[in-house]
Amino acid sequence: MAKRHAGIVGLGTYLPSRILTNFDLEKMVSTSNQWILERTGIAERRIVDKETTSDLAAKAGLRALNDAKVKNKVRKKDVDLVIVATASPDMIFPSTACLAQEKLGLKNVPAFDILAACSGFSYGLVIAESLISSGIYRTILLIGAEAISRFVDWQDRSTCILFGDGAGAVVMQETEEGYGVLSSYLAADGGGKDLLKIPAGGAFKPASFDTVERRLHYIKMNGREVFKFAVQSIFDASVKALELAGLKVSDIDFFIPHQANKRIIDSVAKKLKIDSKKIICNIYNYGNTSTASIPLALEEIYRSGKLQRGDFILTVSFGGGLVWGANVIRWSY
Ligand SMILES: CC(C)(COP(=O)(O)OP(=O)(O)OC[C@H]1O[C@@H](n2cnc3c(N)ncnc32)[C@H](O)[C@@H]1OP(=O)(O)O)[C@@H](O)C(=O)NCCC(=O)NCCS
Repeated sequence: MAKRHAGIVGLGTYLPSRILTNFDLEKMVSTSNQWILERTGIAERRIVDKETTSDLAAKAGLRALNDAKVKNKVRKKDVDLVIVATASPDMIFPSTACLAQEKLGLKNVPAFDILAACSGFSYGLVIAESLISSGIYRTILLIGAEAISRFVDWQDRSTCILFGDGAGAVVMQETEEGYGVLSSYLAADGGGKDLLKIPAGGAFKPASFDTVERRLHYIKMNGREVFKFAVQSIFDASVKALELAGLKVSDIDFFIPHQANKRIIDSVAKKLKIDSKKIICNIYNYGNTSTASIPLALEEIYRSGKLQRGDFILTVSFGGGLVWGANVIRWSY
């Protein structure tokens, strides 16, 4: 039997309405708009108020399903599986995917989370693509959603300036040969586990007065080391995914890197020698939205009408774990 090919047939995103600017942060920690802009490229980010990760996931998921219905006649009842990639789940269990599944009214549809920090969407594309190409499922809703601000230490100026909330979702189905997810490369190195983590709240360090007092339920990061790792790993992953797809950097129409720091994006783009017009960067408005950053950036080119059937897209991400990965996608609608 010929191999099936899986691609995106619907796309939707959701952002909470509340905007937190660098000027707001100046009032919270010892920082400045100028420092944040120069060192990260971020001017503002969205922050949840009452909403939580599963709310954002369900809202982005619904928009992706509507898009899939209009563009590709996919019905809600076609959905066979819900996957939520998140680094900020509502709870350890039930999964955020189960909570979003209920909010979407997808009763009895299997649902699970994947935790690959900010690379969750890259990992999710591989899982969804494999399940469709193997014939196990026909229609998968893959969502990257984060209320990561709930895990940010608003007293730590080295991390609180970076992150923002949001969600992006794709509906995936079988597509024609030569379209959809053409290649993927994933990697991990647990040796870097201490560079970026939320130390407490799991089985290793359950919640206690001590963990709360020491602020161990918040994101802890070695920014300089993560920066170095990020540039090298996303360069390597990009090269490997391109090789697997049999493509050159110049064949790529859009380069969508995880939006963590504008300087990381610029360094990688320089190493890859990619035309700056092809780089999608929306970090100025949203900061680092972890698993949502790639679908949010993808949606910008999709809605603007720039993305055409047949375009080659290279997406690449990295995150705590350490994890990293890249996917080459050929747009199919
Ligand atoms: C966090 C990051 C922006 C810091 O930028 P940097 O240029 O590496 O800055 P450093 O950590 O070397 O700190 C330089 C100085 O700025 C200070 N500083 C840190 N945050 C600051 C802030 N928000 N405002 C003002 N000064 C700040 C530091 O205290 C340090 O001061 P010192 O020299 O007196 O010790 C950068 O390292 C980074 O983006 N790393 C990658 C993080 C990432 O991608 N994480 C997500 C992974 S998915």
